[in-house]
Amino acid sequence: MKDVPRRVQIVEVGPRDGLQNEAARIPTADKIAFVDRLADAGHSIVEVSAFVSPKWVPQMADAAEVFAGITRKPGVRYTALVPNLAGLTRARDARVDEIAIFAAASETFSQRNINQSIDESLATYRAVTDAARAEGLRVRGYLSTCFGCPFEGAVAPAKVAGVAARLFDLGVYEVALSDTIGIAHPGQVPEVINAVTERIPLAHIALHFHDTRGTALVNVLAGLQSGVATFDASAGGLGGCPYAPGAAGNLATEDLLYMLDGLGIETGVRLEGIMDASRAIEPILGHPLPSRVVQAAKATKTK
Ligand code: HMG
Ligand code: MG
Repeated sequence: MKDVPRRVQIVEVGPRDGLQNEAARIPTADKIAFVDRLADAGHSIVEVSAFVSPKWVPQMADAAEVFAGITRKPGVRYTALVPNLAGLTRARDARVDEIAIFAAASETFSQRNINQSIDESLATYRAVTDAARAEGLRVRGYLSTCFGCPFEGAVAPAKVAGVAARLFDLGVYEVALSDTIGIAHPGQVPEVINAVTERIPLAHIALHFHDTRGTALVNVLAGLQSGVATFDASAGGLGGCPYAPGAAGNLATEDLLYMLDGLGIETGVRLEGIMDASRAIEPILGHPLPSRVVQAAKATKTK
């Protein structure tokens, strides 16, 4: 395929975006093994957990224990979500390699997810980003509801671009434009990217798709054709956001790799290694993983 990046950076978000939404209690040791398997599969960035309020997201309450238990591979960045200065202190104590802050393009989702308006959250994140960068920690910025909000419906691309630019101005190295509820279609992808690239260079934009309506992969293709070269994905297609009603799993890392491998786009990540990680965590979840590639492999007994 012409005019698409030859190499793609995958950001593995399964242990965080995936496991934050699981109903079953996942033992910390299983989370640790999951992260280690994902790093063994060749990932260079693994989002391990979130230093958020355990009252809001109990699934991530063991973030420090997970970080303490993983075997850190050289060349792998182990990251975590941080909502405020209290989270930054916990993250620093756990020796994270970088942090991610998370704002929203729509007011209602911002209130529901982090109990702050967009303006309030950017003030909080300014303090977090300044403190993190002063200590040499890189900061990534998520922007939720870029393609639609579960409470407000459509979100104008100009609004997305405005908040994305404010997030970037805080000093994040990358803004992950996120489809929180998996509502995007491939016509929207270049529209949003074109609006955002008027304010942020393309090289600093990543895409984060959930697969609620089965459009995540085709949205990646649209993103590739717009020149984006960083995509988030979650092993097995685990995922969702506890504060976004109807948000299903993230784009599955296996499904993304199947397509990128087929297109001859390099990632450095081994599909078989991700399948091993997914196969090990699946029995603990109490439900089948949504990844089509994982399910096809089971059905055909192929790998
Ligand atoms: P709040 O209730 O407004 O703030 O929560 P608070 O300061 O009053 O804190 C409440 C309690 O939590 C207090 O404890 C704090 O000490 C404690 P109490 O005094 O009642 O005993 N607390 C903390 N404890 C540990 N670590 C902390 C921390 N902060 C406060 N960091 C807050 C505000 C932002 C903290 C809360 O709303 C929160 O943690 N929200 C996170 C929600 C979340 O994690 N959502 C999912 C991740 S985002 C996502 O999935 C989207 C994404 O994937 C992209 C996409 O798909 O769109 C990234
Ligand atoms: Mg997400």
